[in-house]
Amino acid sequence: MNKEQLDELLYQSLETERGGVKIYETAVRCAQNDDLKKEWGKYLDETRNHEVIMLRVLDAFGLDAETETPGRRIVRTKGEALVASMETALRADPAAAQLVAAECVVEAESKDHMNWELIGEAAKKLTGEEGKALKEAHGEVEEQEDEHLYHTMGWARELWLESLGLPAVLPPPEEQKHTKSAIGADRAKQARTEML
Ligand SMILES: [Fe+2]
Ligand SMILES: [Fe+2]
Repeated sequence: MNKEQLDELLYQSLETERGGVKIYETAVRCAQNDDLKKEWGKYLDETRNHEVIMLRVLDAFGLDAETETPGRRIVRTKGEALVASMETALRADPAAAQLVAAECVVEAESKDHMNWELIGEAAKKLTGEEGKALKEAHGEVEEQEDEHLYHTMGWARELWLESLGLPAVLPPPEEQKHTKSAIGADRAKQARTEML
């Protein structure tokens, strides 16, 4: 395994979680649906915990959590842009801000989800203290990342449909079916017609 690139992944993962905290703090303010507000509040708490878990991982790898890398800076800049988009939407049209926030969370969680998928793959190959730390972290976080991404994708789709004046399932089927995988998300989407 390319150790340098693995370190880069770990730095980017920490930065993604830190950005995620700010994104959720803003998204919660954009949420108008009570169930969604509660859901994102839960994801905010989990993301704060992911930051702590990543700090633990970096420590196990003997890496300084504040080391700057070009890739990490890009992750941070993108996160800041997502927060700025939500702030702009809140000022312009609070009702539309909820949709903007749902899309921002999906974008941020796509990166977060991929990071953890990659961490899972790397964990399988690593042995010793580093391998142990990575496996433990992955075990704690993986399922939550599935929920963050797939459930918010469901919210974004159904809230958009509702805004179009089309039949919407709220909370989304992904929520009601406790979706935790890409296949599950597909099934949830297929089941929406019966749930209407
Ligand atoms: Fe996370
Ligand atoms: Fe997440």
